[in-house]
Amino acid sequence: MDIGENGAEFVVVANRLPVDLERLPDGTERWKHSPGGLVSALEPFLRSHSGAWVGWPGVADAEVAPFEDDGLLLHPVELSSKEVEDYYEGFSNGTLWPLYHDVVAQPAFHRHWWNTYVKVNQRFADATAKVAAQGATVWIQDYQLQLVPAMLREQRPDLKIGFFLHIPFPPVELFMQLPWRTEIIRGLLGADLVGFHRPGGAQNFLWLARRLVGLEPSRGTVGVRTRPGVVQVGDRTVRVGAFPISIDSAGLDAVARRKDTQARAKQIRADLGNPKRILLGVDRLDYTKGIDVRIRALYELIADGRVDPEDVAMIQLATPSRERVDHYKTMRQDIEQSVGRINGEFGRVGKPVVHYLHQSVNREELVAFMSAADVMVVTPVRDGMNLVCKEYVACRYDLGGALVLSEFAGAAAELTSAFLVNPHDLDGVKNALQAALDIDPAEGRRRMRALRRQVLTHDVDRWARSFLEALGTQTSV
Ligand code: ADP
Ligand code: G6P
Repeated sequence: MDIGENGAEFVVVANRLPVDLERLPDGTERWKHSPGGLVSALEPFLRSHSGAWVGWPGVADAEVAPFEDDGLLLHPVELSSKEVEDYYEGFSNGTLWPLYHDVVAQPAFHRHWWNTYVKVNQRFADATAKVAAQGATVWIQDYQLQLVPAMLREQRPDLKIGFFLHIPFPPVELFMQLPWRTEIIRGLLGADLVGFHRPGGAQNFLWLARRLVGLEPSRGTVGVRTRPGVVQVGDRTVRVGAFPISIDSAGLDAVARRKDTQARAKQIRADLGNPKRILLGVDRLDYTKGIDVRIRALYELIADGRVDPEDVAMIQLATPSRERVDHYKTMRQDIEQSVGRINGEFGRVGKPVVHYLHQSVNREELVAFMSAADVMVVTPVRDGMNLVCKEYVACRYDLGGALVLSEFAGAAAELTSAFLVNPHDLDGVKNALQAALDIDPAEGRRRMRALRRQVLTHDVDRWARSFLEALGTQTSV
């Protein structure tokens, strides 16, 4: 795949570029790594294959010319501050995000948000049409851009178009709440291949194509990376499949094995006062992640006398996210209050129970935290996949540590040797946390070995290759 003179042969289109423009208070600007799983997963793949990436630079009203970043050609799409409000914070993150995550927060349906979503999707389609070479492969990403496949096909029928949804595709009863449900399904049907993490998402989509668009999709069961569903749209065949995303497992394993990483992990443990057990949570600060659940479970375990606060330290790293959206403001207050409560009741000077950082850390530091943690706690109430749990497993080449994982993360279907929990069942979460804290080392190694077998053999490269092969694209460089 190459960036040809007449356009790029391979183009990724995502709401965000892999780098985010940051405006500092002194008026200077710099680029930093973008947050979230989509960029974590796609960036290593794309950097090793070269191509172009169309996306928003992360701040309003930034007019940035296309530029090259380490072999990748980045094509910024500008959004005004009103568009950021209505398309990104509004329709994408105030309507679609909660609707697709099982309505764990109430979605808002506003016509002016929808109108801006249509307008901005058209802008992404127009920008992509200009960047892609004749017959190129275009891979559109995620819920912010569900209309782009059909809009792009309209202008460029020569392209091979793939779409992948990084978040859950909801049960049909919930999807049907959306006033613009048919438009979304039609938008996605513009692709040659529509991919989801789980077969259930693909089946839901096929059902909706029949119900809302009157098509006749195949009826067989969709497999994981196999047996995609098929639906005929005019003279085109659209395939619909399941492709569970993953991480750069070998890359993280290599960072974890480095002496400086292990030294840093030791330092982190020492900074915490060498507690018997370290628990770790790493998330974007999002209400779907169940951060409150794990703090509450730990609070109750201590209050019940089942865990001694002198023995444990919990670290919660929480990347700031979507800070102007109401649900996020409320959730942040609730979580910070619960951190205050557990530390207020069970901490002492110099030894809080929960170390909460509303910050993002770099990759090396993240691997050091994961190497130091005895128990990784991943308790989303709904998550398309969740990469954090896979990252933890990839870091544990020593077969140490234990993973507590929500059944409602897509990853639970693959990581069956974790301590699987229902985050709505607080007693169940408490029992799992305690079991993970007290795990017999031999049992821990057995579980971690099984988890690593899965994560190291199913990495992000395999995910991308399986998707692109199903799309009929050559994946060699
Ligand atoms: P989502 O895409 O919803 O944010 P994922 O678990 O799939 O959730 O991906 C999150 C990504 O962001 C992972 O690669 C994770 O390591 C990274 N991440 C989350 N929080 C932090 C943090 N505080 N510092 C550094 N990286 C983080
Ligand atoms: C999830 C979504 C991505 C999104 C990321 C970060 O991973 O699936 O599309 O980019 O979260 O969220 P943000 O709103 O900051 O882009």
